[in-house]
Amino acid sequence: MTSIDAGPSGTLRVAPSILAADFGSLANAVREIDAETDWLHVDVMDGHFVPNVSIGPPVVKSLRQYSARFFDCHLMMSEPGRYLEAFRLAGADGCTVHVEVGSTASLIDEAHAMGLRVGLAANPDTPFSKVASFLGDIDLLLLMTVFPGFGGQSFIGDVMGKVKEARHEVDVNDLALDIEVDGGIDLETAPIAVEAGANVLVAGSAIFHSPDPLNAAHELRVAARTGRA
Ligand code: DX5
Ligand code: ZN
Repeated sequence: MTSIDAGPSGTLRVAPSILAADFGSLANAVREIDAETDWLHVDVMDGHFVPNVSIGPPVVKSLRQYSARFFDCHLMMSEPGRYLEAFRLAGADGCTVHVEVGSTASLIDEAHAMGLRVGLAANPDTPFSKVASFLGDIDLLLLMTVFPGFGGQSFIGDVMGKVKEARHEVDVNDLALDIEVDGGIDLETAPIAVEAGANVLVAGSAIFHSPDPLNAAHELRVAARTGRA
């Protein structure tokens, strides 16, 4: 199965989260922002790891027809291993699992064996030490800037300490690793996250709740690059 190239690690990427889009019109939402989309962020919630339910492989499969972008699937699931293959077959390019669910080493191996790009996510209150030993084995580290489960929450600035630690480790060890932030990313917080060392910016509300989502995604990119809107 072929994958869409994620591009070189470490470069600035905007990853719109479709969680904030109109689920009745997802194909249009995805096409509308395509020109400003590096990765498409797909939030999968199982109602167990997080207190909310969202979408799964059938929606990924449908959306695959409308986008040639890298599909960055964030699995907020207690048992992601049961679904990795289904996401892969549906057209996921990368899958991110949470370190809090355990079995991390085998999940990383399983996902890589399927040809997926692999991410590891940590909640805001999970210390950096829990992910540190996996940095050489993964393609992406997702440091949550809200507690997962819902869009539209406020950015937790304290997480920037972990982002800085991660960036330091990546630079010192010359790792091919993307550092992604997710939650409350907007024109004000995107430059803060980039300054701390993040290079992949997930944004839901800031893009899809705007009257002009394409322009909102563009402005986010500009703000991230220049440090201001
Ligand atoms: C939270 C999700 C995020 C969220 C981002 O559980 O992982 O991707 O939807 O949404 P905003 O940008 O609205 O915080
Ligand atoms: Zn997410």
